[in-house]
Amino acid sequence: MWVEKYRPTKLSDIVNQSEIIGSLEAMIKDPTEMPHLMFTGSAGVGKTTTALCITKQILGDYAKDYTLELNASDERGIGMVREKVKKFSRFAGMADVPFKIIILDEADEMTSDAQTALRRIIEDTAKICRFILIANNISKIIDPIQSRCATFKFTSVGEEDVISRLEMISKKEKIKADKKGLKAIYDYSEGDLRHAINLLQAVASLGPINEENVIKSAGLTKTTDVDEVLKIALGGKIIDAREKMIELIKVYGMSESDFLKYLNAAVFKSKNEKMSEILEIIAKYDYRILVGSNSEIQLSAMLAELSKLSK
Ligand SMILES: Nc1ncnc2c1ncn2[C@@H]1O[C@H](COP(=O)(O)OP(=O)(O)O)[C@@H](O)[C@H]1O
Ligand SMILES: [Mg+2]
Repeated sequence: MWVEKYRPTKLSDIVNQSEIIGSLEAMIKDPTEMPHLMFTGSAGVGKTTTALCITKQILGDYAKDYTLELNASDERGIGMVREKVKKFSRFAGMADVPFKIIILDEADEMTSDAQTALRRIIEDTAKICRFILIANNISKIIDPIQSRCATFKFTSVGEEDVISRLEMISKKEKIKADKKGLKAIYDYSEGDLRHAINLLQAVASLGPINEENVIKSAGLTKTTDVDEVLKIALGGKIIDAREKMIELIKVYGMSESDFLKYLNAAVFKSKNEKMSEILEIIAKYDYRILVGSNSEIQLSAMLAELSKLSK
C-alpha cells in the first residue's frame, strides 16, 4: 500500500502542518521538557504519522521496546486501560531513553470509565511516561485529561501540498500523471491525504493518472464496493459485510455519511423485493449517526439488521 510505503519517517517530511511541526521540533530538542500531547483534526492529515515520527526521533533504536501504540482496532474500555496501558506504563528497567511513549489513537472513542482510569495513570507515571493522544473530537475527552496535554489542531491538507505529494509518489512509482488528473484526485479527497494516495494507487492500476481515469476509478472503487457490502449483508453474512464496511471506512477513508449515501443508491440499483424495509433501516441509522452515536457501532448494527432480512 502506497500510504504506508510513503508515510514520512521524519517530522521534516510531513507536509502542510508546518506550524505544528515547528513547535514540536523545538519541543523535542530537550525531550525531558516535552509535555503530554493531544492531536486533533480530521482523517488523513498526518496525526498518527506525526506521533510515530516523534517517537522515532526521541527514542531512536529503542522506539520498538519503549512505545505502546494502541489504535482504532483495539478495544477501548477500562479493561484495556488496566491491562495494556497500566502494565506497560509500570514496567521499569529503562536504559538510555528519557521516558516511554504511549500513543492512544482514537482516544475519543474511550469510555468515560476508561478515561478516568487513564487520567490516574497519566498522573502516577508522569516521570517515566509521555502520552500522545489522538482524537477526532476533542470535546469527548474529559477535562482533566485535556488540561494535562498540549493540544495541536491539524488542518486538512491544502491543494498544493496534496498535489506535490502525489507528484512525488507518481515519479517514484514511474507512472504518468497530468495536472488535471491530480487536481481531480485532490477534489475527491477533500484534503484527506490518505484518501488521495489510496485513490492515486487505485487509478494507477487502470493506467495513467488523467481526469478520465480518476473519475472512473473514484466512482468505481467506492460504489461497487458498497454494492458488495449490501449484497453480502442481505445474504446474511454479517461478519463479512462488517469487515468490508470497516475496510472501506478505515482503509479507504470513506466517510460514514458517504457510505450510507452509496448504500442508499445501491438499494435502488438492486431492485430488491424488500426495498422499502431496507430503506427504512438505512434511514434509521442515518439519523442515529447524525445525532452523534458511535458510528462504527451503529453501522454494524445496521448490517446486522439487514442480514436478518435474509432469514
Ligand atoms: N501531513 C502529511 N504529510 C505527509 N503525508 C501524509 C500527511 N498526512 C497524511 N499523510 C499520508 O497519509 C497516510 C495517513 O496519515 P495518518 O498520519 O495516519 O493520518 P491521520 O491524521 O488520520 O492519523 C500516511 O501514511 C501518509 O502517507
Ligand atoms: Mg490516524
